[in-house]
Amino acid sequence: MTDVLVVDGTGRGHAICDLFVRTDPDTTVYYGPGCDALTAERIVPVPSVRLDAPESALAFLADHPVDFVFVSNIDALSIGYADVLAAHGHRVIGPSQEAARLEASKERGKRFCDDHGLPTARYAAFTDPAAARAHVRALPYACVVKTDGLTPDGDGSVVCDTAAEAEVALDAFAAAQGEAFQVVVEERLYGREISVFALLDGEDYLLFPTALDFKRTLERDAGKNCDGMGSIAPHPQASPLLMEEIRRTLVDPLVRGLRAERLTYSGFVYIGAMITSTGLRVIEINTRFGDSEAEAVLPGVHSNFTRLCRAVLDQDVASHPLVTDGLVRCSVALTQGCLDLADPATAPGWPFGAFETGQPVTEHTADAPDASQVFYANVRAGEGGSTVSSGGRVLHVVGTGITLADARSAAYARVGRISFPGMRYRSDIGAVFETAPAPDATGARGELAVADSGR
Ligand code: AMP
Ligand code: GLY
Repeated sequence: MTDVLVVDGTGRGHAICDLFVRTDPDTTVYYGPGCDALTAERIVPVPSVRLDAPESALAFLADHPVDFVFVSNIDALSIGYADVLAAHGHRVIGPSQEAARLEASKERGKRFCDDHGLPTARYAAFTDPAAARAHVRALPYACVVKTDGLTPDGDGSVVCDTAAEAEVALDAFAAAQGEAFQVVVEERLYGREISVFALLDGEDYLLFPTALDFKRTLERDAGKNCDGMGSIAPHPQASPLLMEEIRRTLVDPLVRGLRAERLTYSGFVYIGAMITSTGLRVIEINTRFGDSEAEAVLPGVHSNFTRLCRAVLDQDVASHPLVTDGLVRCSVALTQGCLDLADPATAPGWPFGAFETGQPVTEHTADAPDASQVFYANVRAGEGGSTVSSGGRVLHVVGTGITLADARSAAYARVGRISFPGMRYRSDIGAVFETAPAPDATGARGELAVADSGR
């Protein structure tokens, strides 16, 4: 029997817990703070564990020793959660605070890419708004303005067509941040994004399937960036050739760079990249799995995840195969939108502004079992056994199929049975790829296979 503590509280956290218990019947996951509305077998929510207080996990672990702790949330990692638990003798999977700065500071992430030969867009960093404004006015290319630190809703990057737009973005960041103003201005890249994932053990890595995240808030990729409105996996362009390029140009240099800088790193890394006409470019390094990508990628993994984690702790992960089912998944985020569209005084909804949580979430049961799953993000147990919304992205609904069309229809059929006041979602996640045959790296769909990601 294995006991694990997963530190997270998002749809990604639920997907990681689900991966543990689904692939290892002998594992029990304590999930802190987790989600108290979750009633899954062998997933035990621990609300006393706080993302912003590693000592709360120490207190839990003093009474409930576990085999290891898996920290998968950037808010926790960026304050040194993994360091604190390791310093107290716990076996931990999760990058150190110093390593998590690769995500927590855009400038740090960009510098790491330049120092270790990961291809990325040209950039400059600023702490003075006037200097940043002069820079964007002089640029001969379109740019993206990024606030340096973590942002709660993933809206810290503004993709600009013109210098005037970039100046508006800089003004907004300057007004919001005052003295703390710190931005990166980088060259705008063109192409299709891809989310790349690997499980690292500090020495080597195991590549996981890719995904395509839909980060824009509105239909047809309109509106501002947010944490993501849904994902499809695998990425429609993930051919064996592209996977090889990902390995050679992105993940190998990243792992070499971590070793060269002696950064303590175990757990998932997520490289957001652009497939441009001149090759792959890193958009950002994230020191945890993507959310909502985890919900679309991890259900397809059939390797015993507890065993993989033990291999991470033994620095032997690369000798393990990754078994995946080769199916396509589509994940749709259901978000807390505005409660009354007809009322101009009502709060605008996530991620545009204030929103009202505490909305009762209901679901009509299906007539027959279907190929869908729901991952809990911002829901909480309400009165009398009810479930209520408690944040911006409320649920992630995932459909599975042999084709993307099947996966999409399973996801949206399930979405159609769920409701809460103000529920908003994108109806076009993956739609533009529906008719294109996806290059399959793993053989027959639906049959378990060792993915090409095994080394
Ligand atoms: P980031 O905050 O770095 O994760 O960026 C959020 C989103 O902004 C990315 O997923 C892209 O959609 C977009 N983005 C960021 N950097 C660039 C870039 N250099 N060129 C084009 N789009 C970008
Ligand atoms: N899906 C984007 C993120 O996890 O940052």
